[in-house]
Amino acid sequence: MSQSITFQVLPGGSLRGEIRVPGDKSMSHRSIMLGSLAEGVTHVRGFLNAEDAMSTLEAFRAMGVEIEGPVNGEVTIHGVGKHGLKAPAKPLYLGNSGTSMRLLSGLLAGQPFDCVLTGDKSLESRPMKRVTTPLAQMGAVIETQDKGTAPLHIKGQAGKLKGMHYDMPIASAQVKSCLLLAGMYAEGQTSVTEPAPTRDHTERMLNGFGYPVTREGSTAKIDSKGKLTATEIDVPSDISSAAFFLVGASIAPDSDVTLKHVGINPTRTGVIDILRLMGANIEVLNEREVGGEPVADIRVRSAQLKGIEIPEELVPLAIDEFPVLFVAAACAEGQTVLTGAKELRVKESDRIQVMADGLQILGVDAQPTEDGMVVQGGGKIAGGVVDSHGDHRIAMSFSIAGLRAAGPITINDCANVNTSFPEFRQLATQLGLNLSTL
Ligand code: S3P
Repeated sequence: MSQSITFQVLPGGSLRGEIRVPGDKSMSHRSIMLGSLAEGVTHVRGFLNAEDAMSTLEAFRAMGVEIEGPVNGEVTIHGVGKHGLKAPAKPLYLGNSGTSMRLLSGLLAGQPFDCVLTGDKSLESRPMKRVTTPLAQMGAVIETQDKGTAPLHIKGQAGKLKGMHYDMPIASAQVKSCLLLAGMYAEGQTSVTEPAPTRDHTERMLNGFGYPVTREGSTAKIDSKGKLTATEIDVPSDISSAAFFLVGASIAPDSDVTLKHVGINPTRTGVIDILRLMGANIEVLNEREVGGEPVADIRVRSAQLKGIEIPEELVPLAIDEFPVLFVAAACAEGQTVLTGAKELRVKESDRIQVMADGLQILGVDAQPTEDGMVVQGGGKIAGGVVDSHGDHRIAMSFSIAGLRAAGPITINDCANVNTSFPEFRQLATQLGLNLSTL
């Protein structure tokens, strides 16, 4: 387990330069899962070498898949085919990674072996009924703890799962993906309707491996007849990691940053839309398609942001970016209101409470609500000591706040930055953020 790390950011500065942030976390997870179930050898480039994606990689190694790398973002997966996984010798420890646990619960429900999924304190307190309830309706047998949390004890039901239609009560790509992966092992058709568009990397990548997934409006459909054929995967940079610099370069005076090769899948670009509504100066350049996913370079320059009411339909499209968007709101003229984002309360931390607490410590008027926050922007951001509660995105967001703070900000409990963005400190410093570890 990682040791405790404290960040300290000295106030002020600008961000300038050109960088490539690490690979997309969601696609990295899926590349390992689908590459493992494919027939043949899959090569992945741009793989995110960070703890969350490595939890998935190690889980598949533990189920008998030979995986080489990652070396410089390259991974080679010797696929074992859809029915080739082997029983792991011990529980699969998935660290902090909600995506690993929720997607694997679906993928493993229809295997011919039992297994146990565990995680760290944060992961073992996150809601899992959202996947175990619909999976049980398909015939899965999964035992949770009393509160519906992990460890999850999965009793393999090979040949016994039945396809079904599921209307998701929440807009969650993890739930959708979990059920589609279970559907690969279920009799008949499995279909999932989402209440609002969520990231569609599972559907795109399944199609990339030659496994049919169809979409009709807001419903994705799959059955067990397909097979996965090994392919080449080029993982673009993670827009969720780029987001820290989209906000940082917007709020810091005299900034000009270009982020290279960023994934701009329309189910992920809510952060650009929201920042533009706030008056940000963001250019999307060199748009191209790489391996079935749209990619671009993104240039962002300083701008005076203004407070807005964030349109609720953008919430699922920017779901991981709200911690840093709250920092943008604190720097904007006027009031910013977020509603319809209750899901933020059950992420790696309660991101509404933890961000409101930290911003208040820094003198910002940030009022948490049940499903969002009201931030009065334009005031001073003071220095102070804040706690990330072990949440990677909270730690990086408060680091970015330092660009507009009046004094140093100390951020406790930052080791989990390694779950998604181990190079954050180095790249942020390269661009001009005065960030050190204590
Ligand atoms: C993810 C989906 C989102 C997101 C998470 C990654 C994925 O979670 O917050 O960081 O890779 O499918 P939800 O499905 O819970 O919204």
